[in-house]
Order: sequence, then structure tokens, then C-alpha cells
Amino acid sequence: MRFRANWTTRFGFYFAAIGSAFGLGNLWRFPNVLAENGGGAFVLLYIFLAFLIGVPVIIAELILGKSTQQSILGALRTTLASENNQKIKQMWLGIGKLAVFTSLLVLSYYAVISGWVLHFFVRSLFGLTDPEGFQAAETLATLKKSGGLQIALAGVHILLTVVIVIKGVQNGIEKWVGYLMSIFSILLISLIGKSLSLPASGEALRFLFYPDFSKLTINSLGQALGHVLFTLSIGFGVMVTFGSYMRHDVYLPEAGLRVAALDTGISLLSGLLIVPILLSASAQMGGADVLFQSLPRLFATVKGGNLFGTAFFLCLYLSSLGASIGLLEVIVSNLGDRWGMSRSKAGWLIGGVIFFAAILPALSSSTLSQLRIGGMGLLQILDAVLINWILPVVALGLCLFVAHRVPIQVKEKEFQLSRKFDYKELFGNWLWIIRWLGPVVIVTAIGLQVIGLFVKS
Ligand code: PFF
Repeated sequence: MRFRANWTTRFGFYFAAIGSAFGLGNLWRFPNVLAENGGGAFVLLYIFLAFLIGVPVIIAELILGKSTQQSILGALRTTLASENNQKIKQMWLGIGKLAVFTSLLVLSYYAVISGWVLHFFVRSLFGLTDPEGFQAAETLATLKKSGGLQIALAGVHILLTVVIVIKGVQNGIEKWVGYLMSIFSILLISLIGKSLSLPASGEALRFLFYPDFSKLTINSLGQALGHVLFTLSIGFGVMVTFGSYMRHDVYLPEAGLRVAALDTGISLLSGLLIVPILLSASAQMGGADVLFQSLPRLFATVKGGNLFGTAFFLCLYLSSLGASIGLLEVIVSNLGDRWGMSRSKAGWLIGGVIFFAAILPALSSSTLSQLRIGGMGLLQILDAVLINWILPVVALGLCLFVAHRVPIQVKEKEFQLSRKFDYKELFGNWLWIIRWLGPVVIVTAIGLQVIGLFVKS
């Protein structure tokens, strides 16, 4: 295997996993789904699913990668080596292919939104703001009408991602994620201080933390599950790839728990930052534009707001770059493991494909604006279909695969690494979740969404 590098430290994994988990999902997507699903009750559902389903499935993906030392396609193939029934083999391999294909499509629109962030960063940097809060709505509307500019920005983003991924695991990812997370957390917390001093902060806290279950819809379980998978980077095969780079002594349950706890914490902080601004401005609560329209209002009210704005959009951009690196890494490492393609060849090839794929979502508010289903444009449709439907299907397949096809000793060995806990009980619970509870919850979420297609809630 030409690619297989190993992280020299345990932290290498954390940085890469957190770098991939933490991204636009936390700051751009979370406030939208939260608003669509009415606040507090959805927050509870989200936290509950992140730990009950998210953590066990991360562990399952990591075990698959660590035990086979391969990315998802190779890992499935190796585990299925003794399976003679070609149909069964192809069915399981189909899950891996779907994961890689999903990564490619997600990256195509992720690059477009990353381009929006880059645009806002550059405008703040050059002080192209105004005291009225950056004319954020107009800035975004103009950008969205300009397909060419969005394609160019997405192109820059894809180029940067490809160059970093080609440089390899150690050099590319590890170095800067730790710094970035620390700076971003400090920035978020100081901005939240300001946001919570806005007039509607009480109402915002109530919105976020008072669970009104009547606000949930028939689609809420699917949307919460989809978002948990997306934000924790599950169902893309990325954790399989990361697991394959891991040192043998890393204790996976702890690794999964830490990634989930940090990522969920950041999402909650983002809710605390954004909701008070929206409610104070009586702005519309949902939609893809919420982040870009709300934050500049806050920057306009704080001293040195321009500096805060620049720093914020830079951090946000870097975190979306970190996430994009994870997504591209999945595809590149799979091509390497499967067809022995060199890292740089695979990187450029896939980068080119993603660039062409990004053209469609980049045009969704201009040339292709007529293309709408249920009031959603192309970009939103892609996001909803991939995250609410395809990711749960892949996660279901992975749960069942690890539960039924990976030998029990291989799984148990990972839990034995702990010296602190009675590993048997933890192992038993984990196995029960990936065998039963996880699949039941995922199938229920998909089933409710199917019913939701026919019933107006
Ligand atoms: N977890 C990222 C986010 O919340 O923005 C999205 C993502 C990144 C998914 C990398 C998958 C992945 F491989």
C-alpha cells in the first residue's frame, strides 16, 4: 500500500478527526435545522442521538479501519475475503461505494458554501463593510446571483484542499487543527458574551433549551439523525480511513466519545451565538442564509467589529477547509488502496471531478433557479437528500456490517485496551447498540420520512 502513513502521536488522530468533524455543519447547518425544527426539543433529540447512536457508529467505523489498515472499500473487501456469494459481497461493497460517492457529492456543494465564507472573509478583511452591518443580505444575494463568482470561489477552495491532501497525512492535517480549534473557541465564547447581551437573549435561551415537543415534525427524527451523522462525519467512510492510520494502542471508545463531545459542544455554542442575533433582529429563523445574515449584524455592534468579523470568517473558512480535507482524504485514500493510484494523481483527478460537480449547486440561485422541488433549490435538495436519506442508509449498512461480519475477537480486542473500565459491560452495550438499537432507530427515522412524503405535518 503506497499510502498508508501512521500518525506518530495519539493527538494526530484527534486533530484530524476533530478537524473533519468541526466545520460548516456546526455553524452553518446546525442553526438552520434547529430553526426548522423548533428549537429546544430538537436540541435534546440531537444530543441524545449524537451520544447514543453517533459515538457507537464512530467506534464501529474506526474498528473497521484499524483492524484492516485500509480505507472503506478495501476494508469491506478484506473482511469479506471468505464470502463466496457474489451477490452478498456486492451488496456490502455497495455500501462502501455509496459512502465514497456521497463524500464526492457533499464536497461539491460544501465547496460552494466554503466559497461564500471565503467571500465574506475577504470583504471583512478589506473593510468592505458598512456601519449598517455589512449589508449582509445584499452581499449574499449578489453573490448568489453570480454563478461565475461562486464557481471561481469554489475552485479556489477545491484547489487548496487538493494541495493540502496531496502533501499527506502528517504534513497536511495535524499541524494547525489544534491552534485553529483553540482560537476559534476563544473567539466564539467572546462573541457569545456579546450576543447574550442582546435584548432577545432570554427568548433565545428559551428557544434553545426549553423543549417543546409539539414543535417536532414527522421528519425531525430523520433530520436530527442526518445532522448528527453529517456533523460527526459518519457514513462517509472518513472514520474508517482515519482508523486505518491509527496507532494500535489508541483506545477507540474514548476517541469516539471525545470527538462527539467536542463537536456537540461547538454546535451548541454556535446556537447560543446565532439565535439571539436572529431573534433580536426579528429576522427569519430558517434557511441556508441564516449564518451569513445574522453574524455581520453582531459585528456591526461591537467595538472592533471588523476585526472580529475578519477573524471569525477566517476561522470558519479554515474549519471548512479542515472538513473538506477529510472528505477528499476519503476518496483519495480509497482510490489509492483499491487501484494503487498515487496520492497526487488521485488528488488532482478527484479535485477536477469535484470542481465540475460544484458547478451545478453554484448555479442553483441563478441560472438553475427554476429547478425547485418543494420550495427548495438545487443546493438545498442535494443537502437534504444526501444528509437526511443517504447518510442514514450508509450508517445502517456500516452498523450491520461491523455487527455481523467483523469477527467478535477483533471488536472485543479494541475494548480490552482500557485499564479503567470493566470492558465486558461496555463492549456488550456497544454491540447491542450497533446490532439492534442503532438499526431500529435508523430504520424508524427513514420510515417516518417516507410517511412524511405523503402526509403534511
Ligand atoms: N463534519 C463536517 C461538518 O460538520 O461540517 C462535514 C464533514 C466533513 C463530513 C468531513 C464528512 C467528512 F468526511
